Amino acid sequence: MTEETWAAVDRYIDRLFARSDPALDAAQKAAADAGMPMIHITANQGKLLQILARSVNARLILEIGTLAGYSAIWLARALPAGGRLLTIESDPKHAEVARANIARAGLAEVVEVRLGNARETLPEIAAAESGRFDLVFIDADKSSTADYFRWALRLTRPGGLIVCDNVVRNGAVADSTTRDPGALGMRRFIELLAAEPGVSATVVQTVGSKGYDGFAVAVVTGELFPGHAPGRSKP
Ligand code: SAH
Ligand code: DHB
Ligand code: MG
Repeated sequence: MTEETWAAVDRYIDRLFARSDPALDAAQKAAADAGMPMIHITANQGKLLQILARSVNARLILEIGTLAGYSAIWLARALPAGGRLLTIESDPKHAEVARANIARAGLAEVVEVRLGNARETLPEIAAAESGRFDLVFIDADKSSTADYFRWALRLTRPGGLIVCDNVVRNGAVADSTTRDPGALGMRRFIELLAAEPGVSATVVQTVGSKGYDGFAVAVVTGELFPGHAPGRSKP
């Protein structure tokens, strides 16, 4: 089995379930033209995020790591009228390209691209909107993922979802001797996730046009986690 096969199957799946359109195509082209890394999720992963968002009736979504706004467009399209997506990006050029892509997709009123380092932005968001998010998608610098997960736990309502991209990293996640900072970060995150009593979680490996990687998915149960008390007491 080769990456060529994985990519061919992705093309087959995408044609049936996750068709592209001018806004998604233009978002990718703008990213490539700007010399940005082509590390966005695949189309069928975007469709999966949409399905997850719809399955929890998401009205308020947080994304950590915008890049060119490709995953944000998929997620924002799952929102009902009046829904909102906040996406955090630390690179000013990425944020600028993302804002243009999101506007071109007709989502400028729905999506806010917040320029800043998530390490500084997340505490601000938590101060204002703890326990209010229906879904958090973590997809930024891999070595900080455990910290982002701690914030996501505070920000997500009971019954909401926390999804994290790139947890498998070509299998490096299962290598206890890895020295790759990203893989080490993911091992720290996954072990924290497994030990957290306030979620029910798992990890699913994926192959496709973006190689071999995986998603972590967690539903927040709200059990035994005092950090949720403020959010829960709000109307
Ligand atoms: N979610 C995107 C891909 C994100 S790539 C998609 O699938 O379409 C990761 C992004 O996280 C990059 O744009 C990078 O600049 C951003 N990033 C890295 N470290 C960050 C930090 N500390 N705070 C906010 N964004 C960060
Ligand atoms: C990288 C980041 C991603 O979010 C991704 O999906 C793939 C690769 C990276 O930083 O290399
Ligand atoms: Mg990613």
